[in-house]
Amino acid sequence: MINIPRFKKLDSTLDVFRDGYTFIQNKSEQLKSDIFQVRLLGMNVTCLHGPEGARLFYDPELFMRKGAMPKRVQKTLTGENAVQTLDNEMHHQRKEMFMSLMTPGNIHGLMALITQEWQQAGKKWQNSDEVMLFKGAQDIMCRAACAWVGVPLPENKVRKRARDLGWMVDAFGAVGPNHWRGKRARRRSEKWIGKIIKQVRSGKLILDEKMPAALIANHRDVNGKQMDHKMAAIELLNLIRPIVAIAWYVVFSALALHQYPVTRQKLLAGEENYSELFVQEVRRYYPFTPFLGALVRADFSWNGYPFKKGTMVLLDVYGTHHDARIWERPDAFYPERFRNWQGSPFDFMPQGGGDYSNGHRCAGEWITIEAMKVSLNYLTKAITYEVPRQDLHFSLSKLPTLPESGFVINRVRTKENFSPTIQATGCPFHK
Ligand code: HEM
Repeated sequence: MINIPRFKKLDSTLDVFRDGYTFIQNKSEQLKSDIFQVRLLGMNVTCLHGPEGARLFYDPELFMRKGAMPKRVQKTLTGENAVQTLDNEMHHQRKEMFMSLMTPGNIHGLMALITQEWQQAGKKWQNSDEVMLFKGAQDIMCRAACAWVGVPLPENKVRKRARDLGWMVDAFGAVGPNHWRGKRARRRSEKWIGKIIKQVRSGKLILDEKMPAALIANHRDVNGKQMDHKMAAIELLNLIRPIVAIAWYVVFSALALHQYPVTRQKLLAGEENYSELFVQEVRRYYPFTPFLGALVRADFSWNGYPFKKGTMVLLDVYGTHHDARIWERPDAFYPERFRNWQGSPFDFMPQGGGDYSNGHRCAGEWITIEAMKVSLNYLTKAITYEVPRQDLHFSLSKLPTLPESGFVINRVRTKENFSPTIQATGCPFHK
């Protein structure tokens, strides 16, 4: 056995807060090793960087998720005991519930709703002095997500619900006030959606049985039982919350258009497939998912390194996307790199890597890509706007991060003759 290189510091927890997204990559470069050990919160943690480590991390025979996600993240971001924390048959069946929704028809339906919401928003924004794109995009995604899943959302509740869903995401790396704010937001959201689940089950809210809210309310787990209404609410929120979180990527897309204006020209010129390349590069270049965690199921060795049962293992997502051994000039925003990209599900994993049904890779990856394309299309082809002076800096220490200003735009004008085309290519899972 070879010893895993160890970071000789009593505890590196404070380094996570200081280095944020670059924590694993920095340490991996210092130790010149894609695998190393640190102590975090008094615990021995093995960190993996790069595709080889990712391939290992996504082997469900070797790693499990039960017990891996800290309670503080479950109480804000995901909800307790949700699909993200399940293993084996229980995970398989719950995941299938999500995957069954990702049909080309369903994705197309959601994209039509998002397009409609962008059009309504654009008209309204023409009469506003300034618009914070982050909030605007959250509201758009929240209205569309609720309509798509079958949850009624009165107009006067949109901001409150969208803000809560955003705070739950914002809390995943937070301590103190932002963490407590995320916890309260989750409690309010689970109460709201819990009521909807009860209404669907009692017939007070009548939905087509194929609508996501009905499907989740009626889903039966491996034991043949319906989830209790709280668990069902948590899983329904596992659809609505991440759709609202696409607002983070909308802001980063707008930032890229602003910082790299040549990309806007290429999008306007209709360069073949360019919007697909652009959104992939946004998902690679900008920070959202920092790293992912799992626990070792049973003792094993890998490349001569020992992995002990119960050890926490962290996989570096952001750092792997910025590794010069994998990506030429990783710190350049260059959508064309994806034109002939021959990558694997282990070197580009903004929404998790590996396999969808056997592993924990994000069920909403196609939704995200298509919603980003729809939004990009609207921002480039349907409206013009100006970007006033503001603080657009985003800190890599903050998890998750966002440009400080939330990306403010003004002088919004809708263009004439814009006719949206939705080309939801859909999900390869259902081809
Ligand atoms: C903002 C864009 C999104 C990002 C950055 C994102 C990221 C992720 C990541 C990193 C994971 C965990 C992967 C792992 O543990 O290995 C995940 C899982 C998941 N995501 Fe997303 N996601 C996004 C959008 C969506 C959307 C739009 C949906 C559904 C509508 C969705 C539903 C899920 C579900 C259900 C899981 C749990 C999968 C499992 O545990 O098997 N996500 N996502």
